[in-house]
Amino acid sequence: MKDKYLNLVEQSFDWPQDEFRIEDGNLFFNDIPMMDIISQYGTPLKVTYLPKISSQIQRAKRLFNVAMAKVDYKGSYNYCYCTKSSHFAFVMQEALKNDIYIETSSAFDFNLVDALVEEGVINSDIHIICNGFKKDTYIENIAAKCNAGWKNVIPILDNMAEFEDLDKSINSSCNLGIRIASEEEPKFEFYTSRLGIRYSDIVPFYKEKIAKSKKFTLSMLHFFINTGINDNAYYWNELNKCVNVYCDLKQINPDLTSLNIGGGFPIKNSLAQDYDYEYMTEEIIAQIKHICDRRGVAEPDIFTEFGTFTVGESGATIFQILDVKQQNDKERWYMIDGSFMTTLPDIWGIDKRFILLPINKWNEQYQRVFLGGLTCDSEDYYNAEMHANAIFLPYTRGRKDSEPLYIGFFHTGAYQESIAGYGGIQHCLIPAPKHVIIDRNAEGEYTTKLFSKEQSYKSMLKILGY
Ligand SMILES: Cc1ncc(COP(=O)(O)O)c(C=O)c1O
Repeated sequence: MKDKYLNLVEQSFDWPQDEFRIEDGNLFFNDIPMMDIISQYGTPLKVTYLPKISSQIQRAKRLFNVAMAKVDYKGSYNYCYCTKSSHFAFVMQEALKNDIYIETSSAFDFNLVDALVEEGVINSDIHIICNGFKKDTYIENIAAKCNAGWKNVIPILDNMAEFEDLDKSINSSCNLGIRIASEEEPKFEFYTSRLGIRYSDIVPFYKEKIAKSKKFTLSMLHFFINTGINDNAYYWNELNKCVNVYCDLKQINPDLTSLNIGGGFPIKNSLAQDYDYEYMTEEIIAQIKHICDRRGVAEPDIFTEFGTFTVGESGATIFQILDVKQQNDKERWYMIDGSFMTTLPDIWGIDKRFILLPINKWNEQYQRVFLGGLTCDSEDYYNAEMHANAIFLPYTRGRKDSEPLYIGFFHTGAYQESIAGYGGIQHCLIPAPKHVIIDRNAEGEYTTKLFSKEQSYKSMLKILGY
């Protein structure tokens, strides 16, 4: 009878997939036997598979370079990593092996840059794109680098007042960017993004302020669509408007050379996902070239700031099913040994879905379940996938079973720690999981390292003032 969990997956999706396969009923993630990791470290557990970070960066570089070659695009492609998606040292160190730039969001990013310089990971040649609304300390940190001769630090103006602030603090020549305030998607609660300068203000502001400055050169135009790079009329319309503003500016400012299209490349959040990366990249590059040709303007160097795409697919979050609670005829809860709200806050905050798979028991029968977190909050649950309004997992009787069921949420490597407040107070004092880094050595064998232990009561009580 074909009613094993494995059969369900085989009938529903293309299987196996690049990063997932099964051997003897157990899951391999990027060829790592996840049951071995669990046997060594236990759960709850966060995992980062470092090689994925480099392979994603190389993949994007390939996609853009191929797209450019296809239409004989004259500009270059430049990959920036947006640090806010994961600031961890091991992530930065891995990403920076790939000849990339970085994008900063706030003052402390520069302390992080200093630490990387001290470790010899980067030097003052690194390109730093400084985004975000800039408080005094952020302006001071940017200015300190420019005044110390870092030539490739590019502040992106979020608003016009920042120009005066930078002018007061920076005393050397400096390249600048302007962020365009894009229109929000029609279903959003606002019309125009609060981030950036409105379309209609950009050319007059350039003429009135930047063009008259001896210090500043406007070299980059930036825009970011927060719903991501998607094949819909809204995205193409915003791209079109932005490239036209680029052409307007370029015609009066020959120093403008770069168009930064921000982040927003998606990752796989479902085994059913079929995002066509080649098509999207080729279409972006072809459209930019087409508009520039029509306007008689040289095509810009392209910058991207992919955060989720860089680091998301490197992460996994593993739980054990502690027990099963049958709360009525239909609702069967599998209780995890952690919390969704505090370990994967996007599930609760923005109803985000990740790839959910059992780690073991793929040869068992399956059933529909609800997943419950350990906090007392009624919102601490997970009960739907990207492609289906239900979840199915292999049978377990919870604590009555000699072998527990383990489950994994995959591609959880972006934003979750910074939103949850890594190492801080947790809801109901449920400790943060341990974190293990997986890498590969020169022989291609995998290696593991414990980055942080499960959070202790001492660390929480200290923060609480006990
Ligand atoms: C200016 C800017 N660039 C890049 C990103 C990264 O976006 P993503 O993680 O979707 O690639 C963000 C995310 O908020 C952003 O605000």
